[in-house]
Amino acid sequence: MFNMMKLAVFTGAAILAGQVCAQAAFSPPPESSIPAGPKGIAIQEGRKLLTETHQRLPNNVGNGLNCTSCHLAGGTTPNASPWVGIWGIFPEYRSRSGKLISLQERVNDCFERSMNGKPLPIASTEMNNILAYMQWLSTDVPTGMSVKGRGFGPLDQKLVADAGKGKDVYASKCASCHGAEGAGIKNPAGGYFFPPVWGMDSFNDGAGMARTYTAAAFVKHNMPLGQGGTLTDQEALDVAEYFTHQPRPIYPGKAGDWPKGGKPKDARS
Ligand code: HEC
Ligand code: HEC
Repeated sequence: MFNMMKLAVFTGAAILAGQVCAQAAFSPPPESSIPAGPKGIAIQEGRKLLTETHQRLPNNVGNGLNCTSCHLAGGTTPNASPWVGIWGIFPEYRSRSGKLISLQERVNDCFERSMNGKPLPIASTEMNNILAYMQWLSTDVPTGMSVKGRGFGPLDQKLVADAGKGKDVYASKCASCHGAEGAGIKNPAGGYFFPPVWGMDSFNDGAGMARTYTAAAFVKHNMPLGQGGTLTDQEALDVAEYFTHQPRPIYPGKAGDWPKGGKPKDARS
């Protein structure tokens, strides 16, 4: 009897967990579904701001990156922190902020950290255009559900990084595009052909990408570009430890992160 009750409780929890973990299919809408009129124009403008951020928003970007330097292919690549489905996820609780934050605040977090820049005014045309694009990308995703492929994909969290070995991985697998000194390769017309992974034109040390395990998951599934999944978890972790800890802009605001505790082991101090 006791065992049966335990079984019943367990099954209930599993179903509950199943609901909590339910994931929507990864299905960005077809280009042809962008409507005509003001909404369609906003969607197109939003996409341009996210793919050509450095050129189009010089007052808000303090480095050489575009949003899509990390959120690959306009935010439509699974395991490269896609924007598909995030419209119906926010507001969401974030332990780094210690509170519920809106999608606008999440966008501005990346402006201040990943782009080493300044936040956009919440009610600006630019912010609304960015949201219009993210809403369109989320067309077929039920409200409140994450898509399969949200975030950066799995990486063995028990592994321990070796920056010395990471330096060798960097030289053999990354330097051809990102440069021996991490400075990337500039486009003479402005911005970069290959973005910098360290130095003053890169993301700051308060960015998610400055965390070893976060960067490792991105690298594991997406780098070298076009050959995601070819590094082992250990190689991805080693190279991430190496390049994230090279010189880069400092973000003073990170001192206030995780105000309610739970600071992850790879958070920068
Ligand atoms: C240097 C890489 C990088 C760049 C550039 C970047 N981001 Fe991010 N972004 C990240 C990382 C890393 C995360 C996840 C951080 C975490 O949760 O630890 C993220 C998360 C997000 C999320 C939340 C996604 C989710 O599933 O919750 C949004 C929205 C976002 N970024 C928008 C932007 C916008 C808009 C820009 C340009 C202004 C931008 N990002 C530029 C690295 C980057
Ligand atoms: C074939 C060229 C190529 C190789 C090799 C390559 N990358 Fe990249 N990487 C890119 C490009 C291009 C982007 C930006 C994508 C975009 O803008 O669409 C990028 C983006 C990145 C980013 C996010 C943006 C930034 O500048 O911080 C990181 C981090 C990164 N690569 C790390 C690595 C690491 C580590 C390796 C080696 C394991 C590597 N890459 C190998 C081409 C390459």
